[in-house]
Amino acid sequence: MMEIRVELGKAERYPCELLLLFSFELPARIEGVWERTDLEWKGFLSGLMSQGDFKGELFECRLVHTQGALPAKRVLLTGLGKREEFDLEKWRGASSKAGQFIKNSGVKRFAFAVEKFNRLTVEELSESFVTGLLLGTYQFNEFKTLDRDKIKEIEEVVVLTEFPEDMKPIQDGVQKGRIISEAVCMARDLVNGPGNQVTPTVLAVKAEEIAKRHNMEVQVFNLGQAESMGMGAFVAVAKGSQEPAKFIVMEHNKNKGFEAIALVGKGITFDSGGISIKPSENMDRMKDDMSGAAAVLAVMDAAARLQLPLHLVGIIPATENLPSGKAYKPGDVLKTLSGQTVEVISTDAEGRLILSDALTYSLRYKPKAIIDLATLTGACVVALGDYVTGLFGNDESLVKKTEDASAKTGEKAWRLPLWDEYFDYIKSDVADFKNVGTRAGGAIIGAIFLSKFAGKIPWIHLDIAGPAHIEKEKPYIPRGGTGVGVRLLLQLLRDWK
Ligand code: BES
Ligand code: MN
Ligand code: ZN
Repeated sequence: MMEIRVELGKAERYPCELLLLFSFELPARIEGVWERTDLEWKGFLSGLMSQGDFKGELFECRLVHTQGALPAKRVLLTGLGKREEFDLEKWRGASSKAGQFIKNSGVKRFAFAVEKFNRLTVEELSESFVTGLLLGTYQFNEFKTLDRDKIKEIEEVVVLTEFPEDMKPIQDGVQKGRIISEAVCMARDLVNGPGNQVTPTVLAVKAEEIAKRHNMEVQVFNLGQAESMGMGAFVAVAKGSQEPAKFIVMEHNKNKGFEAIALVGKGITFDSGGISIKPSENMDRMKDDMSGAAAVLAVMDAAARLQLPLHLVGIIPATENLPSGKAYKPGDVLKTLSGQTVEVISTDAEGRLILSDALTYSLRYKPKAIIDLATLTGACVVALGDYVTGLFGNDESLVKKTEDASAKTGEKAWRLPLWDEYFDYIKSDVADFKNVGTRAGGAIIGAIFLSKFAGKIPWIHLDIAGPAHIEKEKPYIPRGGTGVGVRLLLQLLRDWK
């Protein structure tokens, strides 16, 4: 694990293997560290820039050896682009790109000085620097057995400041950035883990480990218990699989007088579609159908580490969705925990079924808000593309808070409507609803179905089918499972009032 230390000192006087310096494009500058280093180095840096050998373009990286001109052996220059276009999202990206460059060049230790600029505080800058660095250098090597010695890792980072009064805010920022990034990486590990490894049982064990670490309450119900509680929808989905299903409930700050907020995560550890089986092409991707559950586990862990003053209830219905002689079938009518009945049109619309019982279950905590995360529909990916979360909600103020958290974290979420008209599509001849409407408007219809189980409680549904996993890397998100939702939810909860 990367160690990150905060030290008092001046960058241009600090002996290290590598000193990391950031710069905007000319003519804009960050006064301070860059200029003093340049002075110490007899104008070498301004020379590079005026010759055009380093332009400061966004994410540009250039490594130079100091040949003894500075106590640092090397300097890595990283561009921040145009000063007027700069924001924390670009900062996370630049921190990631610098980290990736350093990691790939095999350097194990580096130093970097945080200083205020663009009206950002050192605390914000430190948190986002660490976030970009840890998320951008993430790699999933658990199942690689060959060439393990070639795996490169940064071991130590020293974050410098010359101002004693900045030590505390920097340490706080570093610590928060670390907690949040470790949570995201925990979620990524679970999503990248294959279906034969990350089973419902493993999710339950993970929940128990987290709960134990933080003295949280945790309950894990098996299929028999779920059945006697009346979770007809969850049980129907689970009964086709040999792998034991788990209904997981965790509580942070139970009985401490805080407002309850329920976090519900879809935990399908493999979605074959069931009897309505999916085409085999890309079916391997359906191991990530527990990305919502992974995010909830990670958020619960981070919430405890950040000591958030809220009563958080994490609820995870976890099961596989497989065809078998015991599997539920199209045409079946299910009685949900809410008492409402559902006609199954497709066994591949299983997410909304297990979530319906989880949402109903959450109501017993009388939550101030319910937030669910689910890789719910391919239609949401068609609507918004690979990188964007579908955002639905029945409460304007909660939607607004979620949009603010989305803007702050750079986890893009875009609102889609929940108008009554859409409900017509899921009316059934034999039951209260059907689990599938039309292909057209599929993401909204899925969300409308869920809304019938959130009661009158302010509720947000995040359809993360697109961004749960990416094929093409983003500045601080490598290919594969992304841990989407973790930073968004943590921001929302940190800003809760
Ligand atoms: N897990 C899938 C949704 C999904 C699709 C996630 C693609 C990630 C990428 C979900 O259970 C599903 O199968 N949804 C169906 C719903 C349909 C039957 C109404 C879908 O999207 O096709
Ligand atoms: Mn499905
Ligand atoms: Zn699914």
